[in-house]
Amino acid sequence: MIGIFDSGLGGLTVTRAIRDRLPHADLLYLADSAYCPYGPRPVAEIRSRALACGRWLVDQGAQIVVVACNTATAAAIELLRRELPVPVVGMEPGVKPAVAATRRGKVAVMATSGTLASDRFRALVNAYAANVEVYALACPDLVAQVEAGAINDDHTRALVANYLAAAPDADVIVLGCTHFPPLTPLISACAGPEVTIIDTGPAVAAQTARIAKHIGLPEESGTLRCYTTGDPQTIAPALANVWGETLPLAAVDLPTE
Ligand code: DGL
Repeated sequence: MIGIFDSGLGGLTVTRAIRDRLPHADLLYLADSAYCPYGPRPVAEIRSRALACGRWLVDQGAQIVVVACNTATAAAIELLRRELPVPVVGMEPGVKPAVAATRRGKVAVMATSGTLASDRFRALVNAYAANVEVYALACPDLVAQVEAGAINDDHTRALVANYLAAAPDADVIVLGCTHFPPLTPLISACAGPEVTIIDTGPAVAAQTARIAKHIGLPEESGTLRCYTTGDPQTIAPALANVWGETLPLAAVDLPTE
């Protein structure tokens, strides 16, 4: 079984990519909705929440933990790899493929303030984007819109336009937050057809598949179970919007240690 977590519903976009790659793996998804958004929280708090989520997934039987959250990866990946007894897959904004794709030498990264302020992000930009202009666009309001299931309404469209106005000449946009792939149609409509949009979900799924093979993860029956630390009734409609169909969702109480 593969355990996957995010602050909320965003990690479902990674879950979709993992499901496509590994149709027979059993997946267990945990949305830490009671603490969503992670983006503006102190690093120490994100670390404790990420550890609580990772430990819970392992306790349920996860043989791989996927951190389907750029913010939690930036804050806590080393900690999780140290503390959890299973392989941990993390993710980071696709700066490297963006630099390979840009023709104008201008790249926009849409992410949380936590990701953009992290040492890992700075190191990523220094390593791969030294000769490229990188617009770091913190887009906190878009996380809330996706959590509300508002992936295609006028207010979300206006927010996207407002954020992208700060990077008018970028020809590549990196979705550096797992909440943003459901907004790809809005982002693309706003940025124009010549702009390339990069989502790292498929790359994370490919890495997860490599690890699954390496550890000999058995073929299972392809189930997907979802849990939230928030209120399932409140969250279920937005989950259906993001996933594209209704999924059963149960509550889990996961106190910070
Ligand atoms: N989905 C998350 C990410 O990839 C975090 C969103 C949030 O909780 O602020 O960064």
